[in-house]
Amino acid sequence: MLRIGIEDAAIATGHYFLPLSELADHNGIDVQKYYVGLGQEQFSWVAEDEDIVTMAASAAQPILAPEVKTELGSVLFATETGIDQSKSAGVYLQSLLDLPKNIRVIEVKQACYAAAAALQLACAMVAREPNKKVLVIGSDVAKYEMGGTGEPTQGAAAVALLVSASPKLIEFDATTGVFTNDTMDFWRPNYSTTAHVDGKTSISAYLDAVKGVWQDYQAKGGAPYSDFARFCYHQPFTKMAAKAHRTLALENGIRLTSPQVEEQIASTTVYNRRLGNSYTASLFSALLSLLENDNQDLSGKRIGLLSFGSGSVAEFFSGIVCPGYQGHLRGKDHQQMLADRVQLTYEKYAELHERSLPTDGSRFQNPIVSTGAFRFAGLADHKRLYEAR
Ligand code: COA
Repeated sequence: MLRIGIEDAAIATGHYFLPLSELADHNGIDVQKYYVGLGQEQFSWVAEDEDIVTMAASAAQPILAPEVKTELGSVLFATETGIDQSKSAGVYLQSLLDLPKNIRVIEVKQACYAAAAALQLACAMVAREPNKKVLVIGSDVAKYEMGGTGEPTQGAAAVALLVSASPKLIEFDATTGVFTNDTMDFWRPNYSTTAHVDGKTSISAYLDAVKGVWQDYQAKGGAPYSDFARFCYHQPFTKMAAKAHRTLALENGIRLTSPQVEEQIASTTVYNRRLGNSYTASLFSALLSLLENDNQDLSGKRIGLLSFGSGSVAEFFSGIVCPGYQGHLRGKDHQQMLADRVQLTYEKYAELHERSLPTDGSRFQNPIVSTGAFRFAGLADHKRLYEAR
């Protein structure tokens, strides 16, 4: 039987972070609302010369060894903060990462669900062509109106996943549960740089989807709840994972106390508490947080993954953690990446939030701020200019 799963994975984030204590002070809010009520401590933010492409390139670079590049068949770039209505953000990666010409590259969109959709497409591509690997990327900057209730749940990150027939981290089961429900809980019209959101509706749409995907997964003969060692949820804020987990347990007749919920999901929330919402990347940051921070050996254990994208589409899927997975993780790099971010003052954050780029095609240079391997250098003739250092 062909084994299909994640062979390698890495996270990248923005140059900056804002501690939520700064935001709470400015907004006159008890910071415990953010720490406890939302389960968030900080959020990452991109520098002037960063965007979804530079974060994606930084996430993908460490997993693209020369021999991996020769086996690459496709790049699937999931985002809901796309930079162009036509050209896929993934195509820019070819120049930045020196990718081969004989690959297919597309962008995938359905709010925060898009990377899970890309992952399912990747599994199908590997089943069709097992000697080829697929690079799946989720990269987003989550940006809401300043002063609104969504503001503390902003964030920025990218996750790169190498999907192949030689998984070293997790091997996926074939059965998945899906659920689509046409709702207007969160959307971003083409003319808007910030998302429109009806927060309470989005929470109830998410929880309806938890029940919907699980019922579909069970109807298709999926594994019983008791088979799962851990569950990873999409985390727009980490408290949402707690709400989702309580709902899933209850759907299976189990009433968990708050400490039980916290204990069962704690290792999945380590990174997202500090990255903030990273939309498409969030579920996979949760998976890497679990694999890199859980104090149990998860080898051979079944993990459930639940992806939700407002609008809304959701999917529950699962996998078995590969024996020896610990030897293929990048936990130290990820801790260092979080530690290396530069702290923003509220004033600098506000300036970055409100900053806009010219739209008239004039030549424009971004200041040199970020220190990573890739820069969004500026604009000329309506084209985005990127540089690899
Ligand atoms: N100490 C501790 N907890 C506090 C608190 C305090 N001082 N003040 C409030 N809280 C708690 C509330 O009780 C609530 O907890 P609960 O959800 O367990 O009931 C939580 O903090 C949030 O506060 P609340 O006033 O209910 O919500 P809000 O108006 O601040 O909005 C969101 C919260 C999530 C709706 C908002 O941040 C949002 O719209 N985010 C973007 C959309 C999103 O992420 N949707 C999720 C699904 S995709």
